[in-house]
Amino acid sequence: MLSRIQTLLAELKAATPTTPEAVEALRVGMLGRSGQITKLIDDFRELPPEQKRALGKPLNDLKSFAQGRIKELQEKLQSEQATGAASLDLTRTAIRAPFGTRHPLAKIQREIEDIFYRIGFTVEQGPELEDDWHVFSALNFPPDHPARDMQDTFFISANPDTLLRTHTSSVQVRIMERQKPPIRAICPGRVFRNEDISARAHCQFHQVEGLYVDRGVSFAQLKQTLLYFAREMFGADTKIRLRPSFFPFTEPSAEVDVSCNLCGGKGCNVCKHTGWLEILGCGMVDPNVLQACGIDPLEYSGFAFGMGVERIAMLRYGVNDLRLFFENDTRFLQQF
Ligand code: DAH
Repeated sequence: MLSRIQTLLAELKAATPTTPEAVEALRVGMLGRSGQITKLIDDFRELPPEQKRALGKPLNDLKSFAQGRIKELQEKLQSEQATGAASLDLTRTAIRAPFGTRHPLAKIQREIEDIFYRIGFTVEQGPELEDDWHVFSALNFPPDHPARDMQDTFFISANPDTLLRTHTSSVQVRIMERQKPPIRAICPGRVFRNEDISARAHCQFHQVEGLYVDRGVSFAQLKQTLLYFAREMFGADTKIRLRPSFFPFTEPSAEVDVSCNLCGGKGCNVCKHTGWLEILGCGMVDPNVLQACGIDPLEYSGFAFGMGVERIAMLRYGVNDLRLFFENDTRFLQQF
């Protein structure tokens, strides 16, 4: 019995419960109705008198040590809780961390990708740091074309010639150089122009380029593809119209308007009372471009188009200042 008394004494000294529940469990385990010390006392009663004399004091000491120790532990926890030292409650619901949202430009770009993905277009990427060949020469820009001018293009170095791409049409060239038709691709990406920042212009923005090259690709297919796109993006009632235009890399070329989705074509501030909104440029890939990229223009034809992601996002969401997309003000971004 003496060794049991010593074991329990050691156990009590080693115990470091940190919650009121653990202190209570210790108390019940030692001094409760069927606690270990209570049982010892019961056993003690059955002992012959000479043993009782020897063990009475150690047993009594154990009992008062246990009572004192448990009281001390209870008081310590109570005072810690009162001062907040142990008020960390791991079961409490956490403070809600604010969720981020997808950027409106990323959402629109993803939507454009999805719309074309559904009709068999792949998504391709090209470098932002480009050379004259891929941005201008292969795309049939004459050497003295104003778009090459310092006022538009950020030139990085002359030798090797590097510049920041001014449009994603450069990716067309890269795809055609490495892949034989049929080609059906869209190329989203960032482009750069040396422009003052305003509500309608920025020195960096985003475009999505489209390219379809195969045998017998026609202007009618271009028009139908763009009608499909406009209806998916702006609603099933959307109409489109094509106006003749000029780009060095397409012949013939057109600019595409969609019917204004804000006034339903009746005329409002956004469409400047015309009922139409310009959304992209397009055309049949110029035979010179196919040739420059190693594709035989007698065998193949193609169409291409290019649109500004910011422009589409402004029209879809009714945003009237381009700069809002780049300020990353969460009050703006949370609205999408
Ligand atoms: N690259 C033109 C721009 O940046 C957009 C464009 C127009 C792309 C017509 C095309 C196209 O592929 O056919 O303004």
